Amino acid sequence: MAKLTFHGHATFSIETEDGTRIVIDPWFDENPVSDVTSEEVGEVDYIFCTHGHTDHFEDAIPLAKRTGATLVASAEIAGFAETQGVENVHPMHIGGAFQFPFGRAKMTPALHGGQVHGDETGTFTTVPGGFLLNVDGVGVYHAGDTALLGDMRFLEGQVDFALLPIGDNFTMGPDDAVRATELIHPRVVVPMHFNTWEPIAQDPEAFRKMMGDRARVEVMEPGDTIPLG
Ligand code: NI
Ligand code: MN
Repeated sequence: MAKLTFHGHATFSIETEDGTRIVIDPWFDENPVSDVTSEEVGEVDYIFCTHGHTDHFEDAIPLAKRTGATLVASAEIAGFAETQGVENVHPMHIGGAFQFPFGRAKMTPALHGGQVHGDETGTFTTVPGGFLLNVDGVGVYHAGDTALLGDMRFLEGQVDFALLPIGDNFTMGPDDAVRATELIHPRVVVPMHFNTWEPIAQDPEAFRKMMGDRARVEVMEPGDTIPLG
């Protein structure tokens, strides 16, 4: 069975049954709540980046260079990474899916900012997204940084585990994350993108109460691992 590990903020890793190691939104070294450094995370096969903001992308290029992992991101972010010396990139874009050796990945819409950290020229500004992964038969949706979107309803039936921001201020807050759950109908919701800094302080237990019986809320601490089953 595949496993999901939370590293704090919006950074997760997945290890599939066949041992493929995936990191989503790598932010370790400057992440005030990370459980590991970008060295300690070890070997990585795929890096998925939902968007180019520092807190989702800062360690992507160095991690891809160190491990030889394939960086999967919007075409603009992948193009920027190539200019920075990343050898293995897989450009995608919103609405597109691809069958990787470990499973299927689809890039989903997100409503947020598009700046790419490290691109001093602004050439590679792009639209942000999220990812719907299907690993070992389980649907995992990392929403990225986003507002509540009515289009989330189109994910219904495909998501077992939804990783949803609840921090408010920069993204959806707890109330809109509950509304997102009503559209998506996942089995499990993992709250993310909260309690990293003061403006996104939230009480995950209050979120769990607010969710009621709509879905099981798994509150993960940095370093926690859960089975994706
Ligand atoms: Ni962002
Ligand atoms: Mn963010």
